[in-house]
Amino acid sequence: MDNLPYTALIKFPDIIPEHCDEHIVRRLTSMRGQFADQPAYEQLLSNEDMLLYEVYAFIQPEVDGELDSGISIIHPGKVGQEYFMTKGHFHSILDTAEVYYCMKGKGVMVMETPEGDWNVKDLNPGMLLYVPPRWAHRSVNTSDSEDFVIFYVYPAHAGHDYGTIETQGFRKLIVDQGSGPQIVDNPRWLAPEDRK
Ligand code: PA5
Ligand code: NI
Repeated sequence: MDNLPYTALIKFPDIIPEHCDEHIVRRLTSMRGQFADQPAYEQLLSNEDMLLYEVYAFIQPEVDGELDSGISIIHPGKVGQEYFMTKGHFHSILDTAEVYYCMKGKGVMVMETPEGDWNVKDLNPGMLLYVPPRWAHRSVNTSDSEDFVIFYVYPAHAGHDYGTIETQGFRKLIVDQGSGPQIVDNPRWLAPEDRK
């Protein structure tokens, strides 16, 4: 038997695990088309392909019964008025949930169902978030200076459907129009009735 219990040290203040199975790094280039302000995106990119977020993942076999977990670190920053965020996704197996636990910083989780219901939850250190089955999810760092660090766990067979969000976007955006984070409508969101 090679699937044995294991531990990993995830220690304050740095939190970065001492080991993991995969370290995923996402830069501006991997978010093309996802931020509302395209000129601001191109302008930033012309300076530097900035690091937006990282994931330290503990990966199990992709079978029912197993759990994947890890740490996501979303760095602070904005593209135009929009805060740095993850790509966001539905799970390929839609009927799978996810649990998040906020360890550091502040942010929000933007969520949405295939029918267009939406929900946004604030996350501060110590808060747990339950994302029910069927809800797409995107993490957004709403701090101007600090990393937003969250622990997650979800069924290992869930899979990630990025394409749907790349095409239709999330219904709501998290922006700073001068007074801190605000939830606004995404003008480019494709409503269910407009999808093919
Ligand atoms: O499974 C999750 O929801 C997280 O582990 C995310 O994958 C992580 O936060 C990175 O976001 P994304 O996969 O949308 O790039
Ligand atoms: Ni997920």
